Amino acid sequence: MSTLGVIGCGHWGGNYVRIFSALLGADRVVAVDSSAQALAGLRRRYGAVGTAQRLEEFLERSDAKMAVIATPAATHYELTAACLKRGLDVLAEKPLTLRTAEARKLMELAAAESRVLLVGHTFLYNPAVRKLGQIVSRGMCGDIYYMKATRTHLGLIRPDVNAVWDLAPHDVSIFNFLVGAPPVSVTADGGCYLRSGKEDVAFITLRYPRGILAHIHVSWADSNKERLIEVVGSRARAVFDDLNAMERVKLYKKGISANVAGGDNFGEFLFALRDGDIISPKIAAREPLADVCKDFLRSVRTRKPPFVTAEDGMRVVAVLCAVEESLKNGGRVTPVRSEGRRTPARAGK
Ligand SMILES: NC(=O)c1ccc[n+]([C@@H]2O[C@H](COP(=O)([O-])OP(=O)(O)OC[C@H]3O[C@@H](n4cnc5c(N)ncnc54)[C@H](O)[C@@H]3O)[C@@H](O)[C@H]2O)c1
Repeated sequence: MSTLGVIGCGHWGGNYVRIFSALLGADRVVAVDSSAQALAGLRRRYGAVGTAQRLEEFLERSDAKMAVIATPAATHYELTAACLKRGLDVLAEKPLTLRTAEARKLMELAAAESRVLLVGHTFLYNPAVRKLGQIVSRGMCGDIYYMKATRTHLGLIRPDVNAVWDLAPHDVSIFNFLVGAPPVSVTADGGCYLRSGKEDVAFITLRYPRGILAHIHVSWADSNKERLIEVVGSRARAVFDDLNAMERVKLYKKGISANVAGGDNFGEFLFALRDGDIISPKIAAREPLADVCKDFLRSVRTRKPPFVTAEDGMRVVAVLCAVEESLKNGGRVTPVRSEGRRTPARAGK
């Protein structure tokens, strides 16, 4: 019988232990964490869950076939590579790595070993984001003008990375998904108000193909908690408010359009305001992380690609590397060095 190791069982990894214990049975899950205290807590809660303090202990087991990497971001590359090299299928948390070259290496390694490598961009499994994808791909917003993301609160401050690497992967993955392609270039400004050397606040502008602009504001220093994604188009504006449990997605069918005037005023624009309904579609109540885990098991079983692939993860890393470069260079326009396109058709899946 194959077992699955959850490598890193802190705040987030503990959720994987819970979900995979329910999906596979606790006796097929091995919790791996350098902290003996974290492991003792999991043993008390899940009984049959196996434990190990080092990844190597788990990899030595002949029944080790799958791994989840939920350790701090700086360790993702090394641990994911070790698991893939041992022939395991891997679900790696976001961000896949902190360097594009490393993300590409993992993508290539997974392909060479014919292994599954799903990247945990959980929001792409969120029913509200899928609904937003349907709204966009069915043209209900019209042509997208721009998108906006706000992700602010007080912490949770991570020791190893800045707020960009912690929070912006969510927004970049959502924007890439909605547009069906990564941005061409970025500019970014940020501030290190709480500690030196690691931005806790950033303002990021992304230029996507087809003239689509996007903006991301992340902050660990804002008492106002916001989790907002907005898409403004020629026909309507769509909003995903993750904190509004009753109406997570709303479509505002209001807008403004320009027409060139005829007669004496030829060449001048006439602007017409449009009023319309505000629609609040039903959003299924499902735990996105449970859907991530189910998709991973489906991909392992069928050997078909997961919904979020290593290539998707690599493209997010490429954007974040460009953001980091722009931050270091006073907000200089920085090209995003990743290739490949993703078709928006997937949005309706
Ligand atoms: N997808 C999401 O929505 C989401 C949400 C939260 C966190 N995350 C990601 O999950 C990862 C973990 O975040 P967290 O909040 O659980 O962090 P955390 O600090 O609470 O937990 C990390 C755990 O990893 C363990 N660890 C560190 N290095 C290890 C190693 N080499 N071998 C074994 N164990 C090791 C630590 O002891 C700790 O228990 C991060 O990459 C983060 O970006 C993703």
